[in-house]
Parts: sequence; structure tokens; C-alpha cells
Amino acid sequence: MQKVKIKNTDIEVSILGLGTVKLGRNTAVKYPSAFEIPDDKAALTILNTTAECGINLLDTAPAYGNSETRLGELIKRTSHEWIISTKVGEIFDATTGESTYNFNPEYIQSSIENSLRQLQRDYLDIVLIHSDGNDENIITNYGALETLNQLKQKGLIRATGMSTKTVDGGILAAQQSDIVMVTHNLHYQGETGVMDYAQQNNKNIFIKKALASGHSTLTKESTHSSTDTTEDTVQQSFNCIYQHHSVSSIVLGSITPAHIKSNSEKAIKSFSLYR
Ligand SMILES: NC(=O)c1ccc[n+]([C@@H]2O[C@H](COP(=O)([O-])OP(=O)(O)OC[C@H]3O[C@@H](n4cnc5c(N)ncnc54)[C@H](OP(=O)(O)O)[C@@H]3O)[C@@H](O)[C@H]2O)c1
Repeated sequence: MQKVKIKNTDIEVSILGLGTVKLGRNTAVKYPSAFEIPDDKAALTILNTTAECGINLLDTAPAYGNSETRLGELIKRTSHEWIISTKVGEIFDATTGESTYNFNPEYIQSSIENSLRQLQRDYLDIVLIHSDGNDENIITNYGALETLNQLKQKGLIRATGMSTKTVDGGILAAQQSDIVMVTHNLHYQGETGVMDYAQQNNKNIFIKKALASGHSTLTKESTHSSTDTTEDTVQQSFNCIYQHHSVSSIVLGSITPAHIKSNSEKAIKSFSLYR
């Protein structure tokens, strides 16, 4: 699989990454159907399949249940050099199913230290601010990206960024960090302005929810009842994304090895078409 250099860093990521919400959390999520969290054996198969496909990017967060802790343990049992992207700011309480947010410098520092312990690393490859939607307030009034950039200066983080929800906030995040993670898929292209800005200003874009959290494939499936159509939906989704040259990687969530394999083939094909 092709890799892309994250501009202004020495990190190279595969054009497809693995999102790991489903490795750690199955409550208060927006997937179309309920699912069991894979046990360690199944999770290891998922990670080994991911590695065999040439994917080196894993995306996690403290808010994804025990995803970080599990990855810390499981990746030791794989022989692969992973680039791990984690986040800071959202705190998910599994007992209530509610999220709270904290973007204060002291909290960010302690969350980073916690992620280092959970992931069993001396430094974090990529850390993104996990926005609650008030992107500009988090950047301007809390100085959250400044805090992350200071931790980068100290050598605890290799690349900083923000997972945003607004165009103005995404552009501000691009101005102050390396990577902006935005939503872009067949049904929603409302943050294209951030992608355009990143392209013009030498910044990097990660895509979340490329399949609208699985709803893209579901819609087509229920309309046409055909696996081929589902496959086409994935290809179309990738085409809709990779045609934007700002995109470094699509972080796609999956706990189904067959999906990871077919998604990888389609990502390679689609990327070759546009780059
Ligand atoms: N605020 C934030 O920072 C934020 C928010 C949302 C997401 N994210 C990140 O972005 C990642 C991706 O987002 P997401 O997981 O919400 O949505 P997504 O990647 O759009 O979709 C994931 C869903 O699509 C299904 N899927 C994958 N490949 C498929 C295929 N070939 N055919 C049919 N279904 C397929 C998966 O089911 P299977 O498991 O069965 O493959 C899963 O339920 C997350 O895991 C997370 O890392 C970040």
C-alpha cells in the first residue's frame, strides 16, 4: 500500500488507517447495528490482517473505551511498526454513556501521560484534540493546540492536530498544527473548505467517517440488496475522498478482516487513479 509523508514531520502513514473505536467501545456509538467487541484472539487477527494489507496507521482515543489499553498490549504481539494516532479532550464514561470534555493545559498534559502509559510508548506519534464541536473556542480560549505544540517541543509528541467539526475551526487548526481530521463521505462534504485550505498551505488531512460510520454501505445494500453494490459504494467513497490531494490517510473503522482486505485493495486502486 502507498504511504504518504506527513508534511513538516518525519512520519509516513499508509493511505488507509484503521479506526479502533470498535475494539474498545460498543455503547453510545452511531454504527447502524449493534456489535460485540472482539476478544483478544479476534483483535489480534484484525491487527495482523491490517499489517498484512500494508496499513501502518492505527487511530485511537481515550474516549474509545479501553481501545488504547488493548492496543498497548496487543501491538506487542504483532511484528509491525505502527504509527499510532490518539486524541485528547473527550472523556467517555462507560457507565453513563455520556462524554465530558476538558481542554485545560493541565488536563491535556495528564491525558498525554496516561496515553503514553496505556500505549506503552516513550512518545506519541500523533495526538489530535478531540473536539466537542466548539472548535474555535477550544483553540482560541483554551489554547489547546498551543499546549500540544509545547509537548511536541518537549519530544513527547511527533505530530499535532485536531479532529474538528466546523470549517472555520478546521482552518484555524490547520494554521496551528500538522494534521486536521475531518468528515468527508458520499453524503456529507461540508468540510471541503478545510481540505482546500490544507492543500494550499501544505498541511495534512485525515478523513474520519469515510463510510458515514457504515451507513453509506447500508443505504445502498438495503436499496439494491447486492454485495457488489456495497463494494462499489466503498470504491465510490474512496474516489470521492482521494481526489482531494490534501488527504494523507482515510481512517476507516472495521473489525471485519474481510472488509479490511477489500477496503485496502480499493484504497490502493483509488489512490492510484488520482495521485
Ligand atoms: N471525533 C473524532 O475524532 C472521530 C469521530 C468519529 C470517528 N473517528 C475516527 O474515525 C474512524 C472511522 O470512523 P467510523 O468508525 O465512525 O466510521 P467509518 O469508518 O465511516 O465506518 C465504519 C463502519 O463501516 C463498516 N465497514 C467498513 N468497511 C466496510 C465494507 N467494506 N463493507 C461494509 N461495511 C464496512 C464497519 O463495519 P465492520 O467493522 O464490520 O467492518 C464499521 O461499522 C473511527 O474508528 C475513529 O478512529 C474520529
